[in-house]
Amino acid sequence: MSKDTLWGHPKGLYILFFTEMWERFSFYGMRAILALYLTAKSRETDNPGLGWDDASALELYGWYTMMVYVMSVPGGLLADRLLGQKKSVLLGGFLLCVGHLILAYDALWAFYTGLVFIVLGVGALKPNISSMVGGLYRTGDPRRDTAFTIFYIGINIGAFSAPLLVGYLGEVINWHYGFGLAGIGMALGQVVYLFGQKHLKDVGNFIPHQLKPGTNERVKLTKVEKDRLIVMFISFAVVIVFWGAYEQAGGLMNLYAKEKIDREVMGFTVPASFLQSLHAFFVILIGGPMAYFWVWWRQRGKESSSLFKMGLGTIITGTGFVLLAGAALETMETADGKAAIWWMFGAYLLHVVGELSISPVALSFITKLSPAKYVSFMMGAYFLVTGLGNKLAGLVGEAAQEAGELTIFISVFAFCALFGLLLIIFVKKLKKLTHGADDVRDEKAVVEPE
Ligand code: PHE
Repeated sequence: MSKDTLWGHPKGLYILFFTEMWERFSFYGMRAILALYLTAKSRETDNPGLGWDDASALELYGWYTMMVYVMSVPGGLLADRLLGQKKSVLLGGFLLCVGHLILAYDALWAFYTGLVFIVLGVGALKPNISSMVGGLYRTGDPRRDTAFTIFYIGINIGAFSAPLLVGYLGEVINWHYGFGLAGIGMALGQVVYLFGQKHLKDVGNFIPHQLKPGTNERVKLTKVEKDRLIVMFISFAVVIVFWGAYEQAGGLMNLYAKEKIDREVMGFTVPASFLQSLHAFFVILIGGPMAYFWVWWRQRGKESSSLFKMGLGTIITGTGFVLLAGAALETMETADGKAAIWWMFGAYLLHVVGELSISPVALSFITKLSPAKYVSFMMGAYFLVTGLGNKLAGLVGEAAQEAGELTIFISVFAFCALFGLLLIIFVKKLKKLTHGADDVRDEKAVVEPE
């Protein structure tokens, strides 16, 4: 292992941490105001939006958030076949800088063009930077899970600050200043990545399936590899349901907060976009304690496999929707038809407990289970299902316009509980299919490569 370490982890981890922190700053900053910009009145206002109705806005929002992650599949292939992960991240970062800066320009063509660049940029950057985190560690290295938790906290520092800064600038002053600030964030990420290259010498260079004219490589998987792929695909079904619930945040829950939540707190009207920070805020707050909790849990000999965590997390996320159902009931009783803001706090907190049991766990799980030559591809596939989950979230939001929020919130809870339980029931069987890849071999040992 490289001696280039800081606080027990390779320095490269911190470079990836800050790059992704800024990338997520730009992404979540822009995302926090997207649905609000689309639905803001287009006339008679100082800060005109596009004046769309909620359903159309949620539809575009759903397509956009789906496409950013779906593009991770070609993004993974790009790394696998042409550029390697490291250069793909560089290219993605460049596309993102361009995309966000185009959005700062106030014209409809610029809006759509900017979105396309962002979709392509996230596709090239996000799955590959995540694989690079895994690539810093050798097989069985117990630091890998912690590394993903650290990386995840970086993501959320960006995701926390962006809705506050970009949200305020965009929602309160001018949407396009908000978009511009998101672009500046991304540019900083690119600078960190460029200057940090010396700490990333040994990672992300490998091009497992380099395209060579005239060769036609066949996929030959061993039985163990096949089993592992199967178990990953099964876990993906649950992951779709989880993101379909969780990602209501920027769409339906964002518009719900704007329209049906009493946002007066101590004489100050909290902009709806501010609530978009809550997820990330809670991740930063409880990310560390939860990682410790799982170590403690494992040391007590309790079930702590990745699959179990994913199942449990899905159920817990679902319970957040029970609180939202409570809010929906309250809106039926209050004179102004609005519910207290605390429902949102509670729901977002439960979502995050769920998220931390699933998302960093799944990322690490994939880098453990995939054969080295398929890591980029599997990461792309994981992001694909995340994208489908985002689209599902958009569809659920659209359905709420007809069915009413109460019905929708209760149904989301029921789905999460069902899928989570199913995964937990089959945990033992599925674990066998991992053939030990998910096991921590020795808490302290530095494990040699296979
Ligand atoms: N908050 C996470 C992030 O932005 C959500 C996510 C996880 C998105 C994994 C895609 C894939 O990174």
